[in-house]
Amino acid sequence: MDRRDYAPEQVLAHQILRAAASERWLGILDLRPGMEAADLGSGPGLVALQMARRVRPDGRVWAIDRNAAMVAQAARLVAAAHMEEWVRTVEADLAAVEPGELPVRPASLERALVANVLHHVPDKVRFLGLARRLLGRQGRLLVVEFDPLRGLHFGPPPGERMAPEELEEAAERAGLAPVAGGDAGEAWYHRLFTPA
Ligand SMILES: C[S@@+](CC[C@H](N)C(=O)[O-])C[C@H]1O[C@@H](n2cnc3c(N)ncnc32)[C@H](O)[C@@H]1O
Repeated sequence: MDRRDYAPEQVLAHQILRAAASERWLGILDLRPGMEAADLGSGPGLVALQMARRVRPDGRVWAIDRNAAMVAQAARLVAAAHMEEWVRTVEADLAAVEPGELPVRPASLERALVANVLHHVPDKVRFLGLARRLLGRQGRLLVVEFDPLRGLHFGPPPGERMAPEELEEAAERAGLAPVAGGDAGEAWYHRLFTPA
């Protein structure tokens, strides 16, 4: 664990407090029943559960995180909600694995979310490039990040936040084309991408 690896309980508490904001993000992502989706850097799993509620009964959500304690917390949450049929938890470092090493088939995802993760990731192009390879041709990737100018009373300090321009440049280098973007709640902005 490095100093940015928070405790699962701490991140879960934040996920509960901002559950209304994450519902709004999932509305932007336009998740629908039957879709194959992933929460990349899912932490303790509450947002993956929110996603699963939107894709069931025929869809599925992959909750993927590099931190074993986060994945264990997500698995407990999914089991407690009796949602194992719709959420699969996976431990993987998405800045290091090859798509073939994941249980998710390349080019299979219709929707993917990367929320509050990229500012932790040194190699953003590699992480986004993997996300692109998991997305189908018509797939959509929603990135949500802390706005460097708003909502400064919680979350990372401004110096640790990622400017939208940095995200846009990394996404372009990763082979992603912008579809939409804007405000995503009191502390966040979003960018929606599709494979270029
Ligand atoms: C602040 S939490 C955000 C969790 C969740 N996405 C949310 O919005 O509540 C950041 C998560 O990203 C995960 N993460 C960071 N780098 C990662 C990587 N390279 N691969 C997979 N997960 C990563 C961390 O382990 C942590 O659980």
